Amino acid sequence: MSDEHPHWRNTKGPEPFYIKSVAPIRRICREERERALASAKYNLFNLQSEDVFIDLLTDSGTGAMSHYQWAALMHGDEAYAGGASFERFKQTVRDVFGFEHIIPTHQGRSAELILMSHFLKPGCYVPNNIHFDTTAAAVQFQKAIDLNLVIDDIYDWNSEFPFKGNMDLAKLEDALKKYGDKIPLVCHTLTCNSGGGQAVSLQNVKEVGALCHKYGKPLFIDSARVIENAYFIQQRDPVYHDWAIPAITREIMSHADGMWMSAKKDGLVNIGGLIGVRSAEVFDALRMYGILFDGFSTYGGQAGRDLDALAVGLYECCEEDYLQHRTGQVAHLTCLLRDAGVRTTWPPGGHAVYVDGRDFCPHIPPEQFPAHALTLALYLEAGVRSVEIGSILRGRHAETGENQYDGLDLVRLAIPRRTYTFTQMEYVAENLIEMKKNAGNIRGVKFTRETPVLRHFTSEFGWVGSAESAG
Ligand code: F0G
Repeated sequence: MSDEHPHWRNTKGPEPFYIKSVAPIRRICREERERALASAKYNLFNLQSEDVFIDLLTDSGTGAMSHYQWAALMHGDEAYAGGASFERFKQTVRDVFGFEHIIPTHQGRSAELILMSHFLKPGCYVPNNIHFDTTAAAVQFQKAIDLNLVIDDIYDWNSEFPFKGNMDLAKLEDALKKYGDKIPLVCHTLTCNSGGGQAVSLQNVKEVGALCHKYGKPLFIDSARVIENAYFIQQRDPVYHDWAIPAITREIMSHADGMWMSAKKDGLVNIGGLIGVRSAEVFDALRMYGILFDGFSTYGGQAGRDLDALAVGLYECCEEDYLQHRTGQVAHLTCLLRDAGVRTTWPPGGHAVYVDGRDFCPHIPPEQFPAHALTLALYLEAGVRSVEIGSILRGRHAETGENQYDGLDLVRLAIPRRTYTFTQMEYVAENLIEMKKNAGNIRGVKFTRETPVLRHFTSEFGWVGSAESAG
């Protein structure tokens, strides 16, 4: 079926870079991993990175910079105000995204705090395709309600639809009618991280923009991986085959009023973020919050040198050889797993492979968190760190206080940019495929200590039936 879409398939090819500096990694033995996991209280965020062999916890801030970026660090201007680094950064952001007014922030979530502090009041509603967890938390922090209005196709494992991150226009219009003035802004996340890194079509951005403007609402694009999304648009929509990537990113933004970005992803840097807006008035208002939360508006919590590295990284991310390799690695791992009968999100996403924890461990009931159990088992088996994107991450329902088992339980294997080789991806695939044969041995997990906010980061767990989890 997928052969109809050659670019979705195995795109293993030579890396468009050579390795100039390396960091050794070591594979500790299984007994050491057992001990490390026990002292991490069965929460992979608590592991020491030196006990991890291949780290697929996140693609955020974990990529490798180019030698041009390292060189750019050297001419960072550390002036408190009006630094030359900021000017270089601003010109790049204007060029790639087309917004006039730019605010640097220290990462994506501080951009979210700035935006939500300005736009929201208690009791407001904020639609999105699917809010990333920090975005949802920033909305809830203002005592407002996050609405996820993605198309239903995203929950269909076998649908070949190439733009499963699209917003459902009918659901959006219903919300706009129902909540009226209680919707101060609409967000759209490209690519849709919490929905498998799935792409959004340009047509959808255009239609969402038109609908927002019909109802007088500003549209903001969560742009953490918008350049990967632009590449999918170029590859999957014939209208844009001949368009250069920055032309596509600018076209996306032309339908929006603003954007924010965690630059730790498509900025190809280890820290950084930004907000871009068209309106001078909104810029003035947001700047105030930026100064309060992040620092003066020509550095925003970043060093001048960070802004220089980001100015170079944004352009490098737009290079098609890079994007082909990047998305090719994700497609390669996805296809190896799917061809061996491991259920993954499909078509391949931009930054990660998402494995269906419930299908992998059908013997573990949702109340025993099958996806989290699989992340622990994969660490024990292969030293690979992944993350649960499922009912632990979703947290408890705001009103009922119940766990929310009515969604997907996924294991995310997020691939850092320009960091690992195809051989390392194959190692991950081989281990998971082998584990599938004896998946019945994987035990369920339970909380031993549950923390109240963003609980996946800090809670503690134990295997069901083990001494640690007794009582
Ligand atoms: N929006 C999206 C779509 C994200 O994926 C993230 C972060 C943020 C906003 C927040 O940005 O981390 O710079 O504060 N995602 C990371 C991840 C953490 O692992 O997916 P941040």
